[in-house]
Amino acid sequence: MEIQSDFLIIGSGVAGLSFALKVASFGSVALVTKKKVMESNTNLAQGGIASVFGSMDSFDFHVDDTLIAGDGLCNRDVVEMVVNDGPDRIRELIELGVKFNLNRNEPSEPNSLNFDLGLEGGHQQNRIVHVKDMTGKEVESVLVHHVRNRENIILFEDHIAIDLITFSTRMKRGLITTTHEDHCCGAYVLDRTTNQVITFSAKITLIATGGAGKVYLYTSNPDIATGDGIAMGYRAGTTVANLEFVQFHPTCLYHQEAKNFLISEAVRGEGGVLIDAAGSPFMEKYDPLKDLACRDVVARAIDSELKKTGADSVFLDISHKDPEFIQQRFPNLYEKCLGFGIDMTREPIPVVPAAHYMCGGIATDMFGRSDIQRLYAIGETACTGLHGANRLASNSLLEALVYANKAAEQAVRDLNSLNFTNSPDLPPWDEVGTTDSDEVIMVSHNWDEIRRFMWNYVGIVRSVKRLARAKRRIENIQNEIREYYWNFKVAADLIELRNIATVAELIVQCAIHRQESRGLHHNIEYSSRDDQRWNKDTLLRRPFVG
Ligand code: SIN
Repeated sequence: MEIQSDFLIIGSGVAGLSFALKVASFGSVALVTKKKVMESNTNLAQGGIASVFGSMDSFDFHVDDTLIAGDGLCNRDVVEMVVNDGPDRIRELIELGVKFNLNRNEPSEPNSLNFDLGLEGGHQQNRIVHVKDMTGKEVESVLVHHVRNRENIILFEDHIAIDLITFSTRMKRGLITTTHEDHCCGAYVLDRTTNQVITFSAKITLIATGGAGKVYLYTSNPDIATGDGIAMGYRAGTTVANLEFVQFHPTCLYHQEAKNFLISEAVRGEGGVLIDAAGSPFMEKYDPLKDLACRDVVARAIDSELKKTGADSVFLDISHKDPEFIQQRFPNLYEKCLGFGIDMTREPIPVVPAAHYMCGGIATDMFGRSDIQRLYAIGETACTGLHGANRLASNSLLEALVYANKAAEQAVRDLNSLNFTNSPDLPPWDEVGTTDSDEVIMVSHNWDEIRRFMWNYVGIVRSVKRLARAKRRIENIQNEIREYYWNFKVAADLIELRNIATVAELIVQCAIHRQESRGLHHNIEYSSRDDQRWNKDTLLRRPFVG
């Protein structure tokens, strides 16, 4: 079965949805998402969107904060472009119906946007535009509402992309014998409800599949975050960059029954303090900015406290603030913690760091274009140059919105000027010789093993020996997966395992390559930043397999 469209979008977070709404006036859109449309990382984003609206703030301040957090590896042009474009993108969301919190205590000009601006680590000014502590969910549901009501967009839920189809895929199958610069023609996608593989043929393909937190044992990410876009892009031959820079969020809820629950950095922005089991604040030992230092610093500080004391967690205490304020500002966190028996208005919350955000990804230009023609990547799955070695808090939704706009403008220009056609004769997915899997245990075992050794050996603090161990482990697992993958009919958990394994291998390769400590990458044998040798991105590209 083949489905043709002008645009194929893989992923339904803020990046994919925003892009879909922008290009839908210019062509047909197929939007593929592997579970239900609302199941995305965006949906869990609590903090908000960083943008310059404060009367004391400036674009230069926001640029500076982003560059400082990025520890020497941001692309300044990209940072300026994203920061300057932020307010327009926020206004667009308001026009679509997002109701950000306004500051009711200060008088404002009629029609001015007097936001209640939050503060987070690494920001010198209050600049987090938010909807209480549920910003991502609100933005996502407004975008989904519009996407569902646009005639030109067809939404394919429960459809998981397997692999991209490129011009060279077709060459490999012997359909075309001429050489040609590679371009993307669409993707093979598994319909999870019928177990059929569908060929999606598109003039332009966008990957917006989000992050890869599930590569690690502990993560703030939902189950869908299996690095699908990065893995597919790499297999198809795109360059990927900076995958050693995995951001660990300092404060995820530590509770036996809690899964992936983040305690927003906004809690520290509103005065929350990190304390140890004895009730003593400890961040002043690590950074003059204390609890509002950049995330890499705070996560390493907690890791060091836990290793020193042997405790299971540290604590985040905001109980000194007015209980009514806490309940109004953090209704979601308050309810969720209460559900686990923790009343955050009266007692500290047990927290630990967990994998949160991938700063690296598919390398793109300032329009979200990868180095395969007609293939774009935006959002967490891309590496645009904005985050460098460490992302500034609440810059991720901002980046997704700005790049959705830039990429949509460019994709429409491409569509109009280059007169693309859908590629004829795309080969159907080849299942010849495969049978139903008889060893599902192999999938869950390998999945579990990867997540554990990535946490233990490629986590917040790394060493040469631990990375070498991780490399050996991942090579063995990759061999097993390769053997298994082509013998059995493709299934969603096998696709995700293959993607997790690929991303884990790429993270390990990048981490071994970078022989210094910078931003989120900390190696005890190379414990300082080395600008002479390493002030550059780590780039990887799969050798062409003809
Ligand atoms: C948070 O609310 O702490 C997460 C926001 C972000 O990752 O930028």
